[in-house]
Amino acid sequence: RFTPRIFSGIQPSGGLTLGNYLGALKRFVEKQDEGIETIYCLVDMHAITVWQDPERLRQQTREGAAAFIAAGIDPARSILFNQSQVSAHAELAWIFNCVARLGWMNRMTQFKDKTAGKNAEAASLGLYAYPSLMAADIMAYHATMVPVGEDQKQHLELTRDIAIKFNNDYGVDFFPVVEPLIEGAATRVMSLRDGTKKMSKSDPSDQSRINLTDDADMIAAKIRKAKTDPEPLPGSVDGLRDRPEAKNLVNIYAALSGQTVAEVIAENAGAQFGSFKPKLADLAVAKLSPITVEMNRLMKDPAEIDRILGNGADRAEAIARPILERTKDIVGM
Ligand code: ADP
Ligand code: NA
Repeated sequence: RFTPRIFSGIQPSGGLTLGNYLGALKRFVEKQDEGIETIYCLVDMHAITVWQDPERLRQQTREGAAAFIAAGIDPARSILFNQSQVSAHAELAWIFNCVARLGWMNRMTQFKDKTAGKNAEAASLGLYAYPSLMAADIMAYHATMVPVGEDQKQHLELTRDIAIKFNNDYGVDFFPVVEPLIEGAATRVMSLRDGTKKMSKSDPSDQSRINLTDDADMIAAKIRKAKTDPEPLPGSVDGLRDRPEAKNLVNIYAALSGQTVAEVIAENAGAQFGSFKPKLADLAVAKLSPITVEMNRLMKDPAEIDRILGNGADRAEAIARPILERTKDIVGM
């Protein structure tokens, strides 16, 4: 009943990382190239759930758009826009805030992760309600599939719960039950300093992540210094169990090379990390530097980026507005 349509977003809250590239951007491009209708969004309203410097937010929204395009998103084939320019997201989020239950929100582990070690009472209400806005982002387009990293799986389940409850509460079959697209190696890229934490732009240590703006020397140095254990690469995939740092580097290699983890292990069984790391660094540089170069080129023309985002917002609005109007009608507004 619902046409296949993909929606996903990335926060313009800081420079993008290798995790965003492998878990999100790279797959966004694959889906676009499969010919499915694709809608991609810089989610600036999500970004402000933690305080952002206004000038930096503006800059990072453009930089995020440049990263999408540099990674292969074609603004003619995909809709690429900035969330706050399409007010249907905020309007539908309010309705969803009234559908979602407090108990559901209390179970969201990302809120707990993001406030761990901090005073959760001092977190913004927006950070808490973030998954409800994310549900609105997706449902405003009746999107049926969302390519995301593993870290977003729980939020996708919440989106399904909200859609199902809305449909039940109002006796309609209006919102689709969305499918997460979480597949392939490295849907969760871990920190280079701690194999139990995900690589994130919000990690205070720059050594923990590879940024899409890092140059070749920085990438090589970060991988050289990446935490590992003293053992060489194992002879089988099983041998990576309980070795989170080793596993992470192998996963990253597999995702970048397009091989399976088993293939990477077969090719490198018994190798020391002293020799595997330079190989990984060369591969990472080969894959990322063309993107960095293109991003830098695009960033020289911010007016052109704004024009692309404005055009994307018009096309997004044309889809979202009738869906929002119908939602309001169902609710009695
Ligand atoms: P971050 O978590 O870095 O703030 P976002 O919340 O904006 O990034 O996430 C944007 C997209 O990037 C999501 O699809 C998310 O699943 C993906 N992503 C973020 N970090 C990683 C990671 N370390 N590994 C895999 N995917 C990731
Ligand atoms: Na995230």
